[in-house]
Amino acid sequence: MKTIILGITGSIAAYKAADIANELVKLGHDVHAVMTRNAAGFITPLTMQALTKNRVFTGVLQEDDPSEIVHVALPQRADLFIIAPATANIIAKIAGGIADDMITSMVLAAHDMPMLIAPAMNTRMYENPATRHNLSILEERGWTVIEPREARLACGYVGKGAMAEASVIISAVLETLK
Ligand SMILES: Cc1cc2nc3c(=O)[nH]c(=O)nc-3n(C[C@H](O)[C@H](O)[C@H](O)COP(=O)(O)O)c2cc1C
Repeated sequence: MKTIILGITGSIAAYKAADIANELVKLGHDVHAVMTRNAAGFITPLTMQALTKNRVFTGVLQEDDPSEIVHVALPQRADLFIIAPATANIIAKIAGGIADDMITSMVLAAHDMPMLIAPAMNTRMYENPATRHNLSILEERGWTVIEPREARLACGYVGKGAMAEASVIISAVLETLK
């Protein structure tokens, strides 16, 4: 059993994080969902809590257990960090070393563990030089970027930006954990 942090951000693909969590839990892993406040507008923390059987974190000041500071303690005992779906915004914040929510705070506190990210966004946002640059920064730092697919996107665009299929993301996680 491995401890996995699953970051979820405010993308239309957020509902797919439920499948990813569900599958990883069924395979015996301890999954901790961490969501941005915007992600909670797309999929409820209760759904993720019910699937993972763990408390779900949505705010960096959410400190229910006085014996530890969550954004430091959880990354310390985790084996892998995956953000799926990852918005253009979270990618930019990570590239810039910002820590203004629970996911980015945990990312900065994480060390010595595989970091995976599955971008999901409108084609123009994905192709924007800022996003390209931010993703290249993450790759330079050793992140595994799970490429988005070409598809008809929720916004009506046809092009690259749809999050990789849940099965592809789960395989990447399992392969990395081997
Ligand atoms: C219906 C809808 C779908 C969205 N989907 C995406 C998306 O797939 N990728 C993305 O980068 N932003 C998307 N956004 C915009 C983000 O929610 C917005 O940039 C937000 O600030 C992201 O916050 P977060 O990164 O803290 O979760 C979407 C917004 C709406 C209203």
